[in-house]
Amino acid sequence: MRQFKIAVYPGDGIGVEVTEQAVRVLTAVTDRLALTTLPWSVAQYENTGRLVPEDYLEQLKPHDAILLGALGWPAKVPDHLSLVPIIRMRQTFDQYACVRPAQLFSGVCCPLANKTPKDIDFVVIRENSEGEYVSLGGRFKIGQPEESALEAAVHTRLGVERVLRFGFELARTRRRHLTMITKSNALKHGFVMWDEVFEEVRARYPDVQSDKQHVDAASMNFVRRPEFFDVVVASNLFGDILTDLGGVIAGGLGLAASANINPERKFPSMFEPVHGSAPDIAGKGIANPTAAILSAGMMLEFLGLREAAGAIQKAVERTLGEGLGTPDLGGKLNTAQLADEIIRRLK
Ligand code: NAI
Ligand code: MG
Repeated sequence: MRQFKIAVYPGDGIGVEVTEQAVRVLTAVTDRLALTTLPWSVAQYENTGRLVPEDYLEQLKPHDAILLGALGWPAKVPDHLSLVPIIRMRQTFDQYACVRPAQLFSGVCCPLANKTPKDIDFVVIRENSEGEYVSLGGRFKIGQPEESALEAAVHTRLGVERVLRFGFELARTRRRHLTMITKSNALKHGFVMWDEVFEEVRARYPDVQSDKQHVDAASMNFVRRPEFFDVVVASNLFGDILTDLGGVIAGGLGLAASANINPERKFPSMFEPVHGSAPDIAGKGIANPTAAILSAGMMLEFLGLREAAGAIQKAVERTLGEGLGTPDLGGKLNTAQLADEIIRRLK
């Protein structure tokens, strides 16, 4: 049986702590992975003067997938430098679909009144390669009263088409409902093109019910009636914002998993918890490993190891359903103990 080559990149702070537990879970659930752990981190920077080797993208490329913890330690290296490897990975490996599920597990406290697990179970797909985050613009007359700043967005027909197609394909594996988010009533160039491409793509998926909302209405509806949503597709900026909202209504950062997917599988895809390195709790052993464990589960699903992926999902559901958790969930377990409980329920 083929072994999948996985690059494990724990990074900094609690990234290291939660990745260690995700690896324990992976090892318990499958023997199909060949894991290589990379020491790239701010800690390594202190010894070698480099966050990552010069050829790090070349080193990552031959892998089937990358399991990332979190990068960043602002006390030692400014964030705009330490997070570069993640951004470069997303771009170089054309991971244009950022997939972030918002699923409320039973036993987890929801900040929305009267909403239960059957009401919150959707996936946001954020366009991850272009849009508002292309860093195109500049500043003029810096520091003067008449200073001006220009920030342009780039939406391409190809980019919009492929992320919508990815969304429709995903919807076919779920409840067959897709909602596209734009703001085409006010941003009349890029998002009107999104609307036009949407009409073309949806015509090819008559078996999927589809509709669209403006981002302001969608923000309200995530809170007011999350049960409406199944698959949500949004641009880079709107997806960034909506996934934080989706994450918090589903129980918070300790549970929020994500995947940065290159659907053509030409390059490795990357799986990571949504949260960062959390310097405020790093070293205390209390970080919630669930987001990292669920991200590892998404990786197995992507690799086609469905049974193992399902086992992780069910074990997490059972563990949280029994009211077990780390302090962020109001529980008493530490990082390793929560992972122990999940591993115990894998079979
Ligand atoms: P953060 O996500 O690290 O932490 C925000 C808050 O949530 C903190 O109070 C933290 O204790 C809590 N938290 C996060 N994950 C948790 C978990 N698994 N269990 C329990 N509590 C958890 O965001 P912050 O503080 O803004 O950033 C810290 C560093 O992480 C910065 O260097 C930032 O640039 C970096 N970062 C990296 C990301 C990545 O690697 N993809 C994403 C977000 C931030
Ligand atoms: Mg964000």
